[in-house]
Amino acid sequence: MFSPVRLVQLSIFLFSTHLVICKLEFTNIKCVTFDPEFAVFDYCFLKSVNRTYKYYSLKVKLLKTPVTNVKINIATFQRLNGYKLFLYNVTVDGCRFYKNQRSNPVFSYFFNFFIAYSNLNHSCPYDHDIILEKVSISHVTNVLPVPHGDYLYRADWYAYNIKRDTVDVFAKIY
Ligand SMILES: *[C@@H]1O[C@H](CO)[C@@H](O)[C@H](O)[C@H]1NC(C)=O
Ligand SMILES: *[C@@H]1O[C@H](CO)[C@@H](O)[C@H](O)[C@H]1NC(C)=O
Ligand SMILES: *[C@@H]1O[C@H](CO)[C@@H](O)[C@H](O)[C@H]1NC(C)=O
Repeated sequence: MFSPVRLVQLSIFLFSTHLVICKLEFTNIKCVTFDPEFAVFDYCFLKSVNRTYKYYSLKVKLLKTPVTNVKINIATFQRLNGYKLFLYNVTVDGCRFYKNQRSNPVFSYFFNFFIAYSNLNHSCPYDHDIILEKVSISHVTNVLPVPHGDYLYRADWYAYNIKRDTVDVFAKIY
């Protein structure tokens, strides 16, 4: 198996050569809040417009603003017998990351899937609802060459070191 750094280099190579090896399609999204006094989801859904265009949207209402301490863990899973951790399990400081994206190329790779569709394009404090609007993969040309199958991208959001919510995005790679 390639190391994460090697895979990022590979994906950059693929991106630069415009070579698409795999296709990715969202299949489901689930949002869970563990602390409804801290954050609640107004909505969280996947919509299929047609066979080639699917998107998801979500809105998190933050109830204890400003939020000045955020940690995000992203882990990727492959479905075998149940979902098994596959390749990535990275945690970043969600307050500092935006200004220092080169500090973690793996996280950057995932962040770039949705940043353009979100209002998360700044550092702490977060004093407003978090919105991801119509996130699609139409801009993604460099899906990593991994085995075809079902995958799960899990983002656990921590504030002040307590897990507050989880966003699970399910996808098929073919
Ligand atoms: C799917 O929907 C999008 C957005 O409405 C549209 O631009 C695209 O042409 C559609 N694709 C097909 C294959 O119908
Ligand atoms: C990811 O790594 C963290 C820290 O090493 C660990 O606590 C966590 O259980 C791991 N997550 C998964 C899904 O294995
Ligand atoms: C963040 O996005 C909003 C809305 O798209 C835009 O108005 C704002 O200028 C962006 N901020 C930064 C720091 O890029």
